Amino acid sequence: MEVTIRPMAVEDIPQVHEIDVRSFPLPWSERSYLFEVRENQSSRCWVAEVEEDGRRLVAGMLVLWLLVDEAHIGTIAVHPDYRQHRIGQRLLAAGLLDAHSSGAQKSFLEVRRSNAAAQALYRRFGYEIAGVRPRYYRDNGEDAFLMNLDNLDPARLRQLLVPVRE
Ligand SMILES: CC(C)(COP(=O)(O)OP(=O)(O)OC[C@H]1O[C@@H](n2cnc3c(N)ncnc32)[C@H](O)[C@@H]1OP(=O)(O)O)[C@@H](O)C(=O)NCCC(=O)NCCS
Repeated sequence: MEVTIRPMAVEDIPQVHEIDVRSFPLPWSERSYLFEVRENQSSRCWVAEVEEDGRRLVAGMLVLWLLVDEAHIGTIAVHPDYRQHRIGQRLLAAGLLDAHSSGAQKSFLEVRRSNAAAQALYRRFGYEIAGVRPRYYRDNGEDAFLMNLDNLDPARLRQLLVPVRE
C-alpha cells in the first residue's frame, strides 16, 4: 500500500469529515474543517492518501495548531479500514516535523482517559501524561489526559516517518 502525506485541500474535506464521523462521538462539522484549511492562520492540516487499485483515497487526517513554539494536536484520525498500518504515526511525524521547521519546540494534546490506542501512539513519540482535565468531553463527561512532548527531536521524528512496508 502506497501512502502519501500531504497538506489537506478543500476538496478532501468530505472524505476527512467521513473519517471524523467514523472515529469520534463528537465529530467536527465540514465547516470547521473549511475554516481550518482556509482561514485559520495557526492551523496546519494534513491528510494521508493511499493508492489502491489505481484509486486515491484519503485514509487519515491531522489538524495541528502552531502557537508560537508549541504544536497543539487538534485532531488526528485514521479511517477504520486503514488502522494499524502506521498511517497515524506517519501523519503525526510529518506534522510535527513541519511544525518543528516552523519553530515549534514542544507539543501537547488532550486524549480521552479510555483511549489506549491513541495514548500508545503518543507514547511512542515521547509524549507523557502531564495532567488531567476532569470531565473534558461533553458527550459522556469523560476526563482528558493532557499529554506533553517537551523536546521535538527531528531525528526521532524522521525515524517515525519511515515508509510503511506491507
Ligand atoms: C489513534 C489512531 C489515529 C492511530 O492510528 P493508526 O494508523 O491505526 O496507528 P499506527 O498504525 O500508526 O500505530 C502506531 C503505534 O501506535 C500504537 N497503536 C496504534 N493503534 C493501537 C491499538 N489499537 N492498540 C494499541 N496500540 C496502538 C502502537 O504503539 C503502534 O505501533 P505498533 O503497531 O508498532 O505497535 C487510530 O486508532 C484512530 O483513528 N482512532 C480513532 C480516532 C482517535 O482516537 N484519535 C485520537 C484522538 S486523541
